[in-house]
Amino acid sequence: MTSQFGMIGLGTMGRNFLLNVAEHGFKCAGFDIDAAKRDLLMAEGATLPIEAADDLAGFVSRLAARRSIMLLVPAGPIVDSVIADLVPHLEPGDLIIDGGNSHFPDTERRQAELAARGFEFLGVGVSGGEEGARHGASIMIGGSPDAYERVRPILESASAKVDGEPCAAHVGLGSAGHFVKMVHNGIEYAMMQLIAEIYDLLRVTGPNADSGSVVADRDLANVFAEWNTGELNSFLIEITATVLRKTDGETGNSLVSMILDTAGQKGTGKWTSQAAMDLGIPVPTIDAAVTIRQISAQKQQRVTLANAFAKRSSRDHKFVIDNAEHEEKAAAGPAASIGEIGTALHAAFLLAYAQGFAMLRAASDERGYELDLVEIAKIWRGGCIIRAAMLEDIRAAYAKEPGLANLLLDQHFTNVLSKNTDAVRRTSLTLTAAGLPGMAFAATLNYLIACATERLPANLIQAQRDLFGAHTYQRTDRVGTFHTPDWAS
Ligand code: 6PG
Repeated sequence: MTSQFGMIGLGTMGRNFLLNVAEHGFKCAGFDIDAAKRDLLMAEGATLPIEAADDLAGFVSRLAARRSIMLLVPAGPIVDSVIADLVPHLEPGDLIIDGGNSHFPDTERRQAELAARGFEFLGVGVSGGEEGARHGASIMIGGSPDAYERVRPILESASAKVDGEPCAAHVGLGSAGHFVKMVHNGIEYAMMQLIAEIYDLLRVTGPNADSGSVVADRDLANVFAEWNTGELNSFLIEITATVLRKTDGETGNSLVSMILDTAGQKGTGKWTSQAAMDLGIPVPTIDAAVTIRQISAQKQQRVTLANAFAKRSSRDHKFVIDNAEHEEKAAAGPAASIGEIGTALHAAFLLAYAQGFAMLRAASDERGYELDLVEIAKIWRGGCIIRAAMLEDIRAAYAKEPGLANLLLDQHFTNVLSKNTDAVRRTSLTLTAAGLPGMAFAATLNYLIACATERLPANLIQAQRDLFGAHTYQRTDRVGTFHTPDWAS
């Protein structure tokens, strides 16, 4: 019997995804140039309807006509070289699915090139890491709906399920799948940076503040674990607690305190910021998260500057937060309480989602993706890295008003965020007062304030532009375009 589904690239993601599909009863074939990876697939899939081929020709010949072949290889030129090697073995009508984190302009180019030769091509975002690939991912499909129908049962079977609904959907046309996955990752960067800033704040100024000790980090783990039982319930909060509990076997310190403070990045966050700039949609929390990862990578320069500038000392600031309730603390002073910080983190997460969804709304119109934001919120509820309970409210908001330009305009979110603006403000102020870089929190706070400010000082910028470049301006009291030739007189 021929195989119904093929996978090229049997690394962690490809192997686990294929095992997942085979476990759902689909006969599968896999190929990788690395024999060790093929052997691992066969060992792990010994009881499953799965086979590995030694070469591309053998792999392709194992697949049933109107082949469906997924690639899970590193994004970039490798995708092009795999496609170039594969295509001579294919027949018109065969379908290639790129499941990697490809940049959407590459997906558009590949779609056009392959369509000209009679092949189908879907750009598909797959989120959830190793665990998701093996046991249920969030799968964002972009391209022709007809091509998706051919593999729909397979991709739905491999997806996570929430309330019985698959976390796999056709999100839009063309490169929409990879665009949506890119924005997912931008939101992921934002949420991770917001969490990191709160970790920093609690570590330096929180109860039992004792940087690097297991006890302190375990205390922090408990805070995050507690938050995960409430409105902050999400994968990233959950794993933060898990990470903070881990002890380093060599030193006895918490493992996280022994990890060098330079964050890596493979580009999806930066692409999100770049694409948002092109669309003219502000995503300052994502921008800040990318910027801070860049600063984190400048370790040597930071060490030099830390010595040159006065070293911060939270103890000198006598800035200690505690467990006091929000109201008491609000009366007592500017420092945020732990409860209030949790409220602020929840609001900041919502604002990060709001930025990402606003970007998707604009991209849908400008790029002709015809994105279904309700489906996107739905399939992000399970399997993916940014899954969170609050996505249910986001889904409901778009179900009510599919054309919503920004989540802030939804009555529920207007209410929640206006109620919690002070928590975000006080958390951002507490970070600043403690001498900690809270760039993502500050960006988020200022996004919220600016979006809800009726009159910004952009009038001054317009006046300056008109003075030095005759760029003209509009007036508040009458319609028209104006220029003042004699600003200095
Ligand atoms: C996911 C993740 C996944 C990957 C990130 C990491 O959704 O499963 O987003 O795609 O872990 O791309 O990105 P950085 O290496 O840029 O942090």
